[in-house]
Amino acid sequence: MKGKLITFEGCEGSGKSTQLKLLAEKLDNLGVDYIMTREPGGSAIAEQIRAVILDGKNTAMCDECEALLYAASRVQLLKEVIVPALESGKLVVCDRYVDSSLAYQGIARGLGEDFIASINAAALGKYSPDMTIFLDISPEDAFRRKNGADKDDRMEQQGMAFHKKVYQGYRRLAEKYPRIRSVDCSGTKYETSDKIWQLFRQNGIV
Ligand code: TYD
Repeated sequence: MKGKLITFEGCEGSGKSTQLKLLAEKLDNLGVDYIMTREPGGSAIAEQIRAVILDGKNTAMCDECEALLYAASRVQLLKEVIVPALESGKLVVCDRYVDSSLAYQGIARGLGEDFIASINAAALGKYSPDMTIFLDISPEDAFRRKNGADKDDRMEQQGMAFHKKVYQGYRRLAEKYPRIRSVDCSGTKYETSDKIWQLFRQNGIV
């Protein structure tokens, strides 16, 4: 494996999409050979799994099914897109990865980190991220900043109590895994972007 895998994590409305756009501009300017992808989805099969997971009509989906579908989408994306890119030496930037499952399904849904780890063995073993950027902003602050939710998919329909658990979960994971770097997002989007870029520099990613 020659390339590096960098993942982005955070609660709903944490500004991941904005930060990924700003990061892409910096990587483009530097002429870095990279791909950007997202979870759940990122390949034709994984996007079909995504549609099932996020369908607001699937209210009867049990937590285990949800966790297994995220894991299925992940392993498909890994084999089809991420591994070939890493092997050809590219930098891979992924919008959400295994820590989303640990925080949302393992901690917030209460399935436990061990169960999530067991169904995501590849993503926590050989293909564990080299660095994970956690955009640290509480769901209350994110909601205020955005002036309300912008989507109405099955995950966004969860109440604030659920999203607070996700946030606490991420903070716990950041304490446990040194690869997870918390980035304080209370400044402007450009300030946050600069902090992320510094981490890329300090860790020899670019
Ligand atoms: P998406 O529209 O991509 O949201 P965002 O812009 O916030 O990343 O939807 C992904 C949703 O799926 C989001 O609510 C987080 C959730 N999720 C999990 O619960 N577990 C997972 O393993 C992943 C990858 C995502």
